[in-house]
Amino acid sequence: MLSQSTHQVPVKDRIILAIESSCDDTAVAIIKNGKIICNMVANQSVHEQYGGVVPELAGRAHQQHLIPLVVAAFQKSGISKELLSAVAFTKGPGLIGSLMVGCSFAKSMAQSLNIPLIGVNHMQAHILAHFIDEPVPSFPFLCLTVSGGHTQLVLVKGYFDFETIGKTIDDAAGEAFDKSAKLLGLPYPGGPLIDQYAKKGNPHQFEFPISDLPGFDFSFSGLKTAILYFLRKEITKNPNFINENLADLCASIQYSIVKQLLKKLKLAAIQYQCNQLALAGGVSANSLLRNELMALCGQQKWEAFIPAFEYCTDNAGMVAKTADIQFLDGLFETMDTTPFARL
Ligand code: KG4
Ligand code: ZN
Repeated sequence: MLSQSTHQVPVKDRIILAIESSCDDTAVAIIKNGKIICNMVANQSVHEQYGGVVPELAGRAHQQHLIPLVVAAFQKSGISKELLSAVAFTKGPGLIGSLMVGCSFAKSMAQSLNIPLIGVNHMQAHILAHFIDEPVPSFPFLCLTVSGGHTQLVLVKGYFDFETIGKTIDDAAGEAFDKSAKLLGLPYPGGPLIDQYAKKGNPHQFEFPISDLPGFDFSFSGLKTAILYFLRKEITKNPNFINENLADLCASIQYSIVKQLLKKLKLAAIQYQCNQLALAGGVSANSLLRNELMALCGQQKWEAFIPAFEYCTDNAGMVAKTADIQFLDGLFETMDTTPFARL
């Protein structure tokens, strides 16, 4: 007669190492059974002096930073490579040279450990960052994805079921911040600096254009041109104009960018009858955007979802979370996969 054993077979932990190298930050995270246990980033200061990311320098810096960062992540989390269930990397979109570094590393590691390889879409990962910490939105929700390379209004119907209902027709919102900052003589990336100076400025001191395209599309190139002509005119009258008005200039520029973003988000929420609004991407670290979204949702009795700061700008935690969902769905890459600059 068979006796029933009380002995439990231990369930293997689901542990994934995730690499993010799409642009200028090298990032590594480890997720264990759906919870981020380590999220590390090595920023590249080398680009500051050039006023933007230099792709070749970014690729080289990833080569330099990636392995020491992975070693540090293993040490910090107390995980050894033999415990990994899968290795994930950002497959695109991004700078191809930078993506190649993460992809090649992840492939080698997955191959040598004989574990699955997971390729993650960077923009999807920015959106799925909302599932890292509680409270999480329920489907469908509207997500304004605003980064240095992208500005999209997305109706998120499921983990991998997205409908892009609006996008920028020229510059991205982060690009608008960075290019405006450059015109003010601020180093790259200028977005966080504009945010910082704007705190002491008057957003209504100078009036910059707020584009109003039909539908849910955005445009920021007119703002950049308006700032350029305005500064040229003022500097001929007073060469010290920027220094004397930096806080007001930053506050007024920030106001113009944020107003346009929120106007479209509100319009979309009404048209799609969606009362859960989320921010994603590096620009979601902007304090005015965060505050205005909270205020709008407070007025309308809508729900606002904003990721923690560390999961707003480029990070591997969001890649790890997306990879974990893909792992459970069995969405893996083959060893002949390559990254794509446009995905
Ligand atoms: O998502 P992200 O880290 O990288 C890309 O995928 O592009 O976004 C970077 C962008 C940069 O343009 C940066 O200036 C902007 O996010 N950014 C900000 C702030 N923090 C980062 N823009 C405005 N205010 C901020 N606090
Ligand atoms: Zn990004």
